[in-house]
Amino acid sequence: MLIVYASKTGNIIKFLKKSNVSNIFKIETGSEVISENFVLITYTTGIGELPLEVATFLKNNHKNMIGVIGSGNKNWGGSFCNATNIIQKTYKTPILLTFEMAGNKHDIEKFLNIMSNF
Ligand SMILES: Cc1cc2nc3c(=O)[nH]c(=O)nc-3n(C[C@H](O)[C@H](O)[C@H](O)COP(=O)(O)O)c2cc1C
Repeated sequence: MLIVYASKTGNIIKFLKKSNVSNIFKIETGSEVISENFVLITYTTGIGELPLEVATFLKNNHKNMIGVIGSGNKNWGGSFCNATNIIQKTYKTPILLTFEMAGNKHDIEKFLNIMSNF
């Protein structure tokens, strides 16, 4: 399964490196087009906001998205990983996992287990 991700400060890149997965694609501008099924990993920005490049990307590509995973920071309280909630509400996409920053060993185990089911 393809993993499509956006990363601003590198935590999601670190998470993917630690997970040792190879079928990955980075959203840069949001104008990318993906024609196969994918799982999205996104960060949250602002106060619980969806990153602009992710919002733009999903306008054209949401039909192939089978699940969403979020990286956030619990210091943001109620807006922790809110980008995943926005995507769930907008596109009826299941939230597969949320984790903090670059994730810990437990998050990576859960992630690899989720991905192995696809
Ligand atoms: C300006 C700014 C706003 C953020 N707002 C939130 C937020 O509302 N909720 C949240 O869970 N994390 C928030 N974060 C934390 C990031 O989502 C988190 O650090 C994430 O791991 C970043 O992923 P990246 O390093 O791959 O870009 C914010 C970070 C920054 C710099």
